[in-house]
Amino acid sequence: MSDIRILDADEARERIPELALILFDCVKSGASVNFMNPFSMAEAIGFYAEIAEAVERDEIVLFAALENERTVGTCQLVPAKKPNQPHRADLAKMLVLGSHRNQGIGKNLLDAVDQEVKRRGLKLVTLDTALNTAERLYERAGYVRAGIIPNFALWPDGGYCDTVYFYKWFE
Ligand SMILES: CC(C)(COP(=O)(O)OP(=O)(O)OC[C@H]1O[C@@H](n2cnc3c(N)ncnc32)[C@H](O)[C@@H]1OP(=O)(O)O)[C@@H](O)C(=O)NCCC(=O)NCCS
Repeated sequence: MSDIRILDADEARERIPELALILFDCVKSGASVNFMNPFSMAEAIGFYAEIAEAVERDEIVLFAALENERTVGTCQLVPAKKPNQPHRADLAKMLVLGSHRNQGIGKNLLDAVDQEVKRRGLKLVTLDTALNTAERLYERAGYVRAGIIPNFALWPDGGYCDTVYFYKWFE
């Protein structure tokens, strides 16, 4: 059973290698999460080093799923910066280590996101995901499918990938 935690900036910095390994694993195995292959651990480390600085600036809430104190899953809640969207946040970089999937870690991360959204008094969470990847996970958690944009991104090994937009309104 994974333990879900929100990492402060120091904890995020300490866990950069573990977070980077999850991202590296996901991209290598074909997940469309902004990066292309060949993808390196150095790039993944650089990405999470920037995320840790964004956590320090209070721009990102970084969630970690821990198993025996090791990070095996992660996601981010990114409150919108725009003055006319104080009630909205994006959900981003939902990633679970390949060896730890289908055990409910993704669901546990989404439950923790819900709690934090409510604690912050946010009302709307939006996200996008590659078609035919994580849609059931989001639908089970109450996210509503807003639509599909064909050819929005590329798969990490090339070829266009359709993107599905989801939202969830919190009463
Ligand atoms: C999408 C992703 C985060 C899901 O993580 P996960 O931890 O496997 O998610 P869950 O375990 O909560 O749910 C996944 C499946 O396992 C099933 N499951 C959950 N607990 C289970 C258990 N104890 N036994 C068997 N199956 C289980 C769920 O029913 C679900 O099934 P379905 O989605 O095929 O209908 C993960 O697959 C991933 O990292 N993918 C690559 C990156 C990616 O594409 N991320 C999305 C970007 S938006």
